[in-house]
Amino acid sequence: MSSSWFQDTEPSWWHRWACRVLKAGPVPRHVAFIMDGNRRYARKNGLPSVLDGHSKGFDRLAKTLEWCRDLGVNEVTVYAFSIENFKRKEEEVDGLMDLAKRKFQELLDDKETVAKHGVRFRFLGDISRLPADLQHLLAQITLFTRDFDRAFINVCLAYTAQDEMTRAVKAVTMGVEKGLIDAEDISESLISKCLDTRYSPDPDLLVRTSGEARMSDFMLWQSSNCCLHFDNVLWPDYSFYNLSLAVLHYQRHFAAIQDLRNQLRQATEVDNCDQTRVAKFLEWFEQSKRAELERLAASPAVN
Ligand code: FPP
Ligand code: MG
Repeated sequence: MSSSWFQDTEPSWWHRWACRVLKAGPVPRHVAFIMDGNRRYARKNGLPSVLDGHSKGFDRLAKTLEWCRDLGVNEVTVYAFSIENFKRKEEEVDGLMDLAKRKFQELLDDKETVAKHGVRFRFLGDISRLPADLQHLLAQITLFTRDFDRAFINVCLAYTAQDEMTRAVKAVTMGVEKGLIDAEDISESLISKCLDTRYSPDPDLLVRTSGEARMSDFMLWQSSNCCLHFDNVLWPDYSFYNLSLAVLHYQRHFAAIQDLRNQLRQATEVDNCDQTRVAKFLEWFEQSKRAELERLAASPAVN
């Protein structure tokens, strides 16, 4: 079965022209999306179930990834399922899990296309809260794509920023308890290296659709100096025009954001840590994450 993740549509002349115009200015390297409004879209358009809204939402995600690629955005992070979403009706949660399983299975069944595009997939969140067969799929995709580096797609599943930070603090605490690091080795930089986003630069632009102007516990640590763009469009209606508006918004604020980032870079944190101890702890942390991934990828999925 071929994957619905990579659409490879032949771009129209005006799409190519618009990309060229936008690329004349600074383009965000990393864009994060809160894809909101799927259920409102389903109701507004008289679709039989809210799940049809989520399915349309997936199609829009695939399109948006293609447009990001055309614009030269090399990393995209999407909020696909928050820990809070587990509180929704069982039918909707199960439907979203089934949609995710179908889409990620399609991705694995079309390894050739994934390799051709050189996309590394990462999954952010507490994966252990997801159904076992989905965990198995996500681990296989993570390992299969781990050496690709042309583009990066981070999918947040069973994610909230507060949970991400809590897990990072727990990992650091365990490091202290095991005697790998001391309390004085704990710094902002160390916490950052224990977050799910540890391999990624902070997002430059964060987009939320559907007219809600809230962060909803998404990338709170990583987005303190990021350009925020709130758009009224419902996610399944998101278009290249909407993305272009977001990039123009970023370009308008680019100089101020760069100034701020430069100032922060200059005011470097005073680190009292012992670099050798910290490096050993991080090696242990990465190894335990890697062992868990390999275990999940190898084990047949049992729910
Ligand atoms: C928010 O809209 C959207 C979600 C909770 C789900 C987002 C999921 C997708 C776009 C599909 C992604 C699939 C994969 C496999 C990555 P909402 O449900 O809150 O809608 P509302 O704001 O109108 O109520
Ligand atoms: Mg919503």
